[in-house]
Amino acid sequence: MTSAALMPLTARRGGPLQGRARVPGDKSISHRALILGAMTVGESTISGLLEGEDVHHTAEAMRALGAAVERTGEGVWRVRGVGIGGFAAPRGVLDFGNSGTGCRLAIGAVAGSPITATFDGDASLRARPMRRVLEPLQRMGARVLAAADDGRLPLTLQGAADPYPIVYEPPVPSAQLKSAVLLAGLAAPGETTVIEAEATRDHTERLLKHFGAKITVKAHGDRGRRIILQGQPELEPASVIVPADPSSAAFPLVAALIVPGSDLILDAVMTNPLRTGLFKTLLEMGANMETLAVRDDGGEEVADLRVRASILKGVEVPAERAPAMIDEYPVLAVAAAFAEGRTVMRGLKELRVKESDRLAATADMLRVNGVEVTIEGDDLIVTGKGGGLGGGMVATHMDHRIAMAALVLGLASEQPVAVDDAAFIATSFPGFVELMRSLGAELA
Ligand code: S3P
Repeated sequence: MTSAALMPLTARRGGPLQGRARVPGDKSISHRALILGAMTVGESTISGLLEGEDVHHTAEAMRALGAAVERTGEGVWRVRGVGIGGFAAPRGVLDFGNSGTGCRLAIGAVAGSPITATFDGDASLRARPMRRVLEPLQRMGARVLAAADDGRLPLTLQGAADPYPIVYEPPVPSAQLKSAVLLAGLAAPGETTVIEAEATRDHTERLLKHFGAKITVKAHGDRGRRIILQGQPELEPASVIVPADPSSAAFPLVAALIVPGSDLILDAVMTNPLRTGLFKTLLEMGANMETLAVRDDGGEEVADLRVRASILKGVEVPAERAPAMIDEYPVLAVAAAFAEGRTVMRGLKELRVKESDRLAATADMLRVNGVEVTIEGDDLIVTGKGGGLGGGMVATHMDHRIAMAALVLGLASEQPVAVDDAAFIATSFPGFVELMRSLGAELA
């Protein structure tokens, strides 16, 4: 996607948000299901796949690498894979659009195949760091034949015909780095080990097990994990059910908390404990949230969440919670703008290298709408005010989550809040505007 045709959008305060909705499938699991399906000989099926632009780019890339990827119904996809190390050299450039996850995971998968492929993306993705993922993959035998400054996209990678298994300790808590190494490790003989100082989302580990790989996960220190993958497994085709994305549920959920009189139920939201930092924080802030029906949905825990408008108070969010809510800070900052007192969000360094410099973009979003906000080092500090907010035009910087967070802010502010470009919302949450309108939101 390009931002050539900007799609401005404005949110206004209206009546309460009410009703019941299911947000689209989890983005992280959707990318992984397509990639693992493509690395498995035989036919896998995926239901509840997120049909957003990011995931479409991954599907297209898997096709270009030789897998048969077909949509057979709404959210239902069939993947006939080529096996570990079996990717074909793609004819053109693999374009990942706005998606860091799709791109970094695919780089890992290609690193274990004896082919050469060129990876590219939009201006936002071209600005994001790739050296972090290339470093371990080069140790495994992949070669970078060309790259832009500092290893960025567009880059051409030659996969290793016989990758080495490595022991890898990611320098930053990142599920993408971990996953890239594990996907490359599938083609290596022996054990590939990833030692995480802080546990990050574990969907790759869970799905690898689901597809028949031998993988063990043990505690490492207080907050970390040691993950050991046996290379060269016989993956078996699988059926994957993708649960609703908690990172997307976060937007209607926070909207319901701050729009007076709201009462919503969000169905079947994934509650994997490595993704629920936001829910925990909102409960600490005094959110009226209930978990209605907890169940297992295809290997992940899901629950229906009931959320009602609440009086919130500011809290301190510790740095160690960041991996479990890394994508949720923009919308948490919006909740904080309506809370009593200060909310201090610590340790947000990684937010600077998301789809935008999300730390700066979040602060700017609030500031132009009258919220008192400061960045101190890697901490974001928001002083809640409740009244007198809005009236600003938010620069979204090609970042879907800044766009959605700003619109949520507008639903509860006295003055409308406009975003310069809502187009990127389609990368992760197709149907966001329609879903929010169906609950009573005024977006136009
Ligand atoms: C993701 C990991 C996170 C997150 C991204 C999805 C994943 O990125 O921000 O939206 O699916 O592995 P990092 O691994 O860079 O923290």
